[in-house]
Amino acid sequence: MMLFGTQRVNSKGRLEIGGCDTVELAERFGTPLYVMDEALIRQNCRDYVQGFRKRYSKIEIAFAGKAFLTAAMCRIACQEGLSLDVVSAGELYTAQKAGFPMERAYLHGNCKSEGELRMALDAGVGRIVVDNLQELDLLSALASAARKNADILLRLTPGIDPHTHRLIRLGQVDTKFGFNIKDGSAMAAVKRALESPGITLRGIHCHIGSQLLDLEAHVGAVRIMVEFVREALDETGVALEEINTGGGLGIRYVESQSPPSIDEFAETITGAFRRALDDFGLTHEPKLVQEPGRSIVGTAGTTLYTVGTIKRVPITEAPGFRVYVIVDGGMSDNPRPLLYDAVYTALVANKADVAPSQTVTVSGKHCETDTLIQDTPIAEVEPGDLLAVLCTGAYNYSMASNYNRFARPAVVLVADGRADVIVERETLDDLVAHDLIPERL
Ligand code: LLP
Repeated sequence: MMLFGTQRVNSKGRLEIGGCDTVELAERFGTPLYVMDEALIRQNCRDYVQGFRKRYSKIEIAFAGKAFLTAAMCRIACQEGLSLDVVSAGELYTAQKAGFPMERAYLHGNCKSEGELRMALDAGVGRIVVDNLQELDLLSALASAARKNADILLRLTPGIDPHTHRLIRLGQVDTKFGFNIKDGSAMAAVKRALESPGITLRGIHCHIGSQLLDLEAHVGAVRIMVEFVREALDETGVALEEINTGGGLGIRYVESQSPPSIDEFAETITGAFRRALDDFGLTHEPKLVQEPGRSIVGTAGTTLYTVGTIKRVPITEAPGFRVYVIVDGGMSDNPRPLLYDAVYTALVANKADVAPSQTVTVSGKHCETDTLIQDTPIAEVEPGDLLAVLCTGAYNYSMASNYNRFARPAVVLVADGRADVIVERETLDDLVAHDLIPERL
């Protein structure tokens, strides 16, 4: 059985997380419920910080908030010494409200609005990661007018095509993100940034893709980024101080996947980085920044659902039937299977000590074919059982919607037998709170 962090099967044969019995969590907080394992989140943060720092002293780890951003998560990231990557006014506001130190924030975005740039300048965001020339000029004008300085990174496209789902591949040349290195746009942007008033160019950034299970593409990207710093030094005389190679380390959603550990990742990346610095003759020791999202929170999240309907339908292929186990959530709390053919592992949380004896398809209750897991082995299951879907900590809560006017689930943080709500369950009133009926109706 594949378990993560503090997950274990307790003496009642039930899944326990953070010392909390999941059946009791479901009774207390209702389902669907996102459960986050605090100890595992913290462990992953520490593995990153220590894994990188012991191999290269000038490092910074920024949590990619898009994976899972709530006020409590900002607090944890801050306590663990991480910086934070935000990508919208909403994420920035969340971090501000949570008291996250803004000098440790990175603002991303490929179409930042003037309002977002002003907000970042006012808040004193540490780094703005500039995606295009229009943004560079606008930021320069805004910063100059406000007599401020914006510390920036330039987002570059290294032209690497990693092995992952086509929608979460971002480093290849044909992408909407960043400045292309190969066609000279990136070097032109460096020169423009160095001449722009109100702008201090601190370094370069790239992010090549997500859920990467081998490190070949990362290693290639690190080398291309270091080479670019060399070329920028030769062309402009300026030694860029920071190289941020984004996030992307994959996690184990199903037994057959075997991603590198965070420590192995650190070993490979810092090794490639040092080698490239040597090969390109760079002696100024630039800071190496990482932006992990999924590998910090992914395995720490579990979604609990109550099983509703179970159906056996005839199919033409063997074994001649399919069993649908339908749960009280679905694509509104986890759109990833439908968007990216994402795979997951499930177990019956109230019978976690019972071995799988059948293959079923887990589906949601939306008015769509919202399959959550196709053909998965599972123990005997009946209506009313509690189903746990593992590894839902990244891009589940953050991508949840109100489709079919479903209220978004609560998020509880568990540790040492305590369970604290960190996001309240939406209510039916929340769902209609912004609806208006014009007078003429
Ligand atoms: N930095 C930047 C600039 C990014 O765009 C991303 C993710 C990350 C860091 C973090 O990557 P991670 O370590 O989590 O792989 N919604 C998709 C994933 C989209 C990722 C977008 N960028 C999913 O559910 O798989």
